[in-house]
Amino acid sequence: MASQQLSAGGPGGLHACARYTRDRVHSATQLLRSAMSTNRRQLEPSVTDRLAQRIAATKLGRKTAQYLAELRTRRVPLHWTNMFGVVSAACLLVIFVTGFFLMFFYTPSTASVVYKGSYSPLHGATVSEAYNSTLAISFELRGGLLIRQAHHWAALLLPASLILQMLVMFFTGAFRSPRRKNWVLLFSLLLVALVGGWSGYALPDDMLSGTGLRIVEGIVLSIPFVGTWLSSLLFGGQFPGQVIDHLYPIHIVVVPLLAMVLLAVRLRAASREKPPQFPGAGRAENNVVGISVWPGAATRAAGLLMIVMGLLFFVSAFFTVSPIWLSGPSSPGDAASGSQPDWYTGFLDGALRLVPPGWEINWLDHTWTLALLIPLAVIGVFLGAVVLYPFFEQWISGDDDDHNLLDRPRNTPSRTGLGVAAITFYGSLWGAGSADIVAVQFQLSLESVIFFFRCLVIVGPFIAFIVTQRVCLALQKKDLETLSHGYETGRIVRLPGGEYIEVHQPVASYERPGLVNTSQRMALRAHPDAHGHIGPVTRFRAALSRFFFENRSARTDQHDGQPGVKSLDWIDDPTTLKEPANRDH
Ligand code: HEM
Repeated sequence: MASQQLSAGGPGGLHACARYTRDRVHSATQLLRSAMSTNRRQLEPSVTDRLAQRIAATKLGRKTAQYLAELRTRRVPLHWTNMFGVVSAACLLVIFVTGFFLMFFYTPSTASVVYKGSYSPLHGATVSEAYNSTLAISFELRGGLLIRQAHHWAALLLPASLILQMLVMFFTGAFRSPRRKNWVLLFSLLLVALVGGWSGYALPDDMLSGTGLRIVEGIVLSIPFVGTWLSSLLFGGQFPGQVIDHLYPIHIVVVPLLAMVLLAVRLRAASREKPPQFPGAGRAENNVVGISVWPGAATRAAGLLMIVMGLLFFVSAFFTVSPIWLSGPSSPGDAASGSQPDWYTGFLDGALRLVPPGWEINWLDHTWTLALLIPLAVIGVFLGAVVLYPFFEQWISGDDDDHNLLDRPRNTPSRTGLGVAAITFYGSLWGAGSADIVAVQFQLSLESVIFFFRCLVIVGPFIAFIVTQRVCLALQKKDLETLSHGYETGRIVRLPGGEYIEVHQPVASYERPGLVNTSQRMALRAHPDAHGHIGPVTRFRAALSRFFFENRSARTDQHDGQPGVKSLDWIDDPTTLKEPANRDH
């Protein structure tokens, strides 16, 4: 076109050509400049990048980077049982956040006021300030009921997830060395959660809280010698006294502090130890097969944490819990019929209900209320046995070794049996806590329901132990058969000779380690001391050891040098097996 204009001749054509060229150059320069500035903008780090660089350059940043790099190299096994710990963490988080919010609106006082709030059925009733403020949180504070209910639902879920964690730890033998202290820590955390739940349950000061506190007063008063003193310390005088004022600091200071200390110690212990893993292909005592802690396990845990918290708020938004306006304010002279504690303290209530009436004696110028003291002692022994079990098992088995490979419950029938017996005992007490409801719902007499639970609490654990042991042995036998003959395929084949056989599919090599029972422990023998004498304690220990180890199948990890089957025979006397060289107690 320029050549056309040039050829058009004259100075006008030349000017037009020059203008045209200048415009082109100008626009090309503009284009280049804008491209360069875009490029520069792309190369320039963003604000967040610059912030991250700054933080990374600080001492804290360097330490965090170092820590994350270490977490990348650490492994945790992937197993569904690990999620109970995350559920507990989510509950604690919800409890702490919602509890902090409630603190600003709740009045911890038993002083009386006349109710003038928005719940009309209670207008003009004399209630405590605690009850009044809890009603105000529920009906007048925007979002208050949701937060209250989330606090309560999380408090209901927390003991369940902690108990499930303890059950997993128990049945898999994860409490053995070097994790015995973890068991004690978990148990202590459960106790703290129970104290938190119990003290929180009392705070709204409604009829149910009052009934629960009345029971507690009776129990405390029944303790010989110190009962009256303890009761006036807790209640600050005649019932109800200032019990709310006294429980409040326990609930919002002592309980959270103890929970945080226990959690910190537990996390520290977990960061120092190898996580235990189930037996399987490539897994050994000295390795961990799994995913990296960061980012693999951490992001999964964070996801589950969010889901559990979301579910807790969802349930709190749609399902009522602790409708204190229905039960009314507490009144020292009244108790509501059908009153139930929160589920986790139900077993304590049940223990009290099972005692026959009239169990009371006078001795040493004191009244001994056996109806309360015996259930207290039984519960005390039960909880003591639970927390001390790892030490007891170590004593009767003589097993001081560190274990990073977990047991399959079927491979330790006595332990599994004891666990199921304990669950049956706890479950019977728990069921007895609702005996009145059961009687009403099933139209039975209360006496017959109580009688049933009395029988169940005594006989149930023994039956549960025996049945569980047999089931474990049957499952071990099934494993042995699977290892030696493979899986049944259901395919029947006729051989040339006319014989019919079922085709079995051999167990895949990667499945084998999961089925093999590698337990090497033998019952302890009662060895005489230096004077040739076998003391009663030694005999007792050996007898317990025999009881613990009897009725096992043979270990199945040696078969022509391959993981396989040694024998299909039951070994009733484990001492007949060759004792490993390291066993001499
Ligand atoms: C293991 C820890 C805790 C448990 C199991 C627990 C449990 C409970 C329960 C069951 C209630 C009765 C809720 C209701 O009214 O229905 C309650 C009330 C309350 N909790 Fe907690 N709580 C715990 C920790 C905390 C913490 C850390 C705080 C404060 C920072 C707190 C503050 C409160 C307050 C102010 C109330 C009375 C208000 C109300 O009853 O709605 N709690 N708690």
